[in-house]
Amino acid sequence: MKPLLQVLAGKPTARPPVWLMRQAGRYLPEYRALRAEAKSFLELALTPELAIEVTLQPVRRFGMDGAILFADILLVPYGLGQPLDFVAGEGPKLEPIRDAAGLARLSDVKLAETLSPVMQTVKGVRAALPAEVTLIGFAGAPWTVATYMIEGEGGTDYENCRRMMWSEPKLFAALIDKLVDATASYLIAQADAGAEALKLFDSWAGAVPAPLFDMAVIAPTARIVKAVKAKHPNIPIIGLPRAAGSHVARYAAGTGVDAVGIDHMTDLAAAAATLPPHVATQGNLDPMLLMVGGEPMAAEARRIVDAMAGRPHIFNLGHGVLQHTPPEHVAQLVDLVKGR
Ligand code: CP3
Repeated sequence: MKPLLQVLAGKPTARPPVWLMRQAGRYLPEYRALRAEAKSFLELALTPELAIEVTLQPVRRFGMDGAILFADILLVPYGLGQPLDFVAGEGPKLEPIRDAAGLARLSDVKLAETLSPVMQTVKGVRAALPAEVTLIGFAGAPWTVATYMIEGEGGTDYENCRRMMWSEPKLFAALIDKLVDATASYLIAQADAGAEALKLFDSWAGAVPAPLFDMAVIAPTARIVKAVKAKHPNIPIIGLPRAAGSHVARYAAGTGVDAVGIDHMTDLAAAAATLPPHVATQGNLDPMLLMVGGEPMAAEARRIVDAMAGRPHIFNLGHGVLQHTPPEHVAQLVDLVKGR
């Protein structure tokens, strides 16, 4: 069995399989070269020929155990008809949804058609991958995607989201419901096309007010896991409830995910101790250590590997690779984890 799939099945491997969030992207010169060929980030993500190549770049260069589909969590709102633009240096911009009229403009009629290039990318990557490498498909979890849809951009304090959750819970729930359905069908399509594992990024889970965590994070994720597993009973699902701190154990139990991503703010061994032994962990090196490199990075990577020995664990970062990370540091890290 492929090492990543073995760990996701709850069985520890001699050394942890390794891949990195945002392993494809601007820190790689070969990515920047291809990115310059596309008119926009959206064109890059929705042109299978380019997206296949970008997905494969870090696998080829570093020998990762996992390939993460090159796409973006905001393709789902885009597929639902919400205008989206990636502004250089500023990140994504969407037309914010703040009321029932905005919600009513979303439609799933063209979702599958708009996102069909992603399925071509999945097929192409799967056909090109070395036999021991696992293809990971993904989507954003409803809460994290909703933050962009409601705020219209990232990097906010989620004030419009939190206002809507408390003052218009029905409107918020209706948006989450649409995202649950769209995300489940999008992930099922990825699995149909050949994705071997799936990941739900809940990058901003830590911003949810505690009394609303079950409603906004656990319940919608559980519904997606259930819908995907109804069609693909054996596909493993990784959840990343980033910065969710004290909620992690309830998240694992309540959602039914096979693995939980642990951020770098959390004590990995302590978090793992709260999980059932068959639920895999993934994480949690501080992405800044990849920028720093050298002995600080090596020491911390060894500590993580040792702390998780005997447990099903996937080596990764606590969040994505930072833009100015030297690629040589990534090579050193992967070699260290792989014992090369
Ligand atoms: O290598 C990989 O991890 C695969 C591809 C991937 C991208 N985005 C490509 C991308 C994945 C898994 C994502 C997920 C994603 N997108 C998340 C969840 C993970 C996380 O980082 O928390 C989020 C929150 C987004 C939303 C998003 N997309 C933002 C905030 C931005 C702007 C970031 C920036 O630094 O400008 C994007 C754009 C984006 N998605 C880029 C890449 C490589 C950079 C765009 C470019 O190259 O011009």
